[in-house]
Amino acid sequence: MTAQDSGKVALVTGASRGIGYGIAEALVARGDRVVITGRDEDNLKRAAEALSAGRPDRVLAVAGKAHDEAHQAAVVERAMDAFGRIDHLVNNAGTNPVFGPIAELDLSVARKVFETNVISALSFAQRTWRAWQKENGGAIVNIASVAGLGASPFVGAYGISKAAMVNLSLQLAHEMAPGVRVNSIAPAVVKTKFAAALYEGREAEAVASYPLGRLGVPEDIGGAAAFLLSDAAAWITGQTLVVDGGILLNAGF
Ligand SMILES: NC(=O)c1ccc[n+]([C@@H]2O[C@H](COP(=O)([O-])OP(=O)(O)OC[C@H]3O[C@@H](n4cnc5c(N)ncnc54)[C@H](OP(=O)(O)O)[C@@H]3O)[C@@H](O)[C@H]2O)c1
Repeated sequence: MTAQDSGKVALVTGASRGIGYGIAEALVARGDRVVITGRDEDNLKRAAEALSAGRPDRVLAVAGKAHDEAHQAAVVERAMDAFGRIDHLVNNAGTNPVFGPIAELDLSVARKVFETNVISALSFAQRTWRAWQKENGGAIVNIASVAGLGASPFVGAYGISKAAMVNLSLQLAHEMAPGVRVNSIAPAVVKTKFAAALYEGREAEAVASYPLGRLGVPEDIGGAAAFLLSDAAAWITGQTLVVDGGILLNAGF
């Protein structure tokens, strides 16, 4: 173990850009080795190169779809082969293929949202538990959303899945204690490709509801995740950390 090497290994799903990349960047900066995933192999490779900054032994990239069970198995197996441990899991990969209310939503879309956002997170948690955390401990962070803490006319199905991420974290925190801590992060709008439709062309208007005067950036979530995955958070489990620039302070009028 070198001075810069923490000895810890983290698996971050959906980390070729955006929030997942911001989290991986924060973890690499403190000396963790990281395993990152994403669907597009070329983008993922570029992200791994950028993250490793000349130390390719610090970053492993495994391309695939988060909800694909063969991919999930391969990610955990390759992480264990390469690094021999998985201390931290960040379930970040998520999708929102549909906007609008749910009263007449096509159920096949709802199933897809749940499969990618929730079932894959549960599966990665189970696999990481079996491979390392059950015997050796660790921590998990699930990326939820403020959309999971209330109702929205725009992102109904997505919001249900993010509420499920909050309860998934509670349930796993209870079951996996005392060895493994499990928390979630609920961001408001963070400037990424995923959220661009919510602010592009109208950022000043969007920012007006944020007491802290700006939208989020991936580094904001990276810092929060690094904290929850550190010894500074050793007595914190089952919590949802809202990282929202203060937007939920608004009383609605
Ligand atoms: N941005 C926000 O305002 C915001 C707010 C609250 C919560 N969140 C949550 O934060 C997480 C990350 O969002 P983001 O804004 O960072 O999105 P993003 O910029 O679009 O990045 C998503 C990342 O995940 C990968 N990915 C997407 N779908 C995947 C899948 N099915 N399997 C594996 N990898 C997948 C993408 O690469 P490929 O496309 O190559 O697969 C990319 O690396 C999501 O869970 C989202 O719900 C975002």
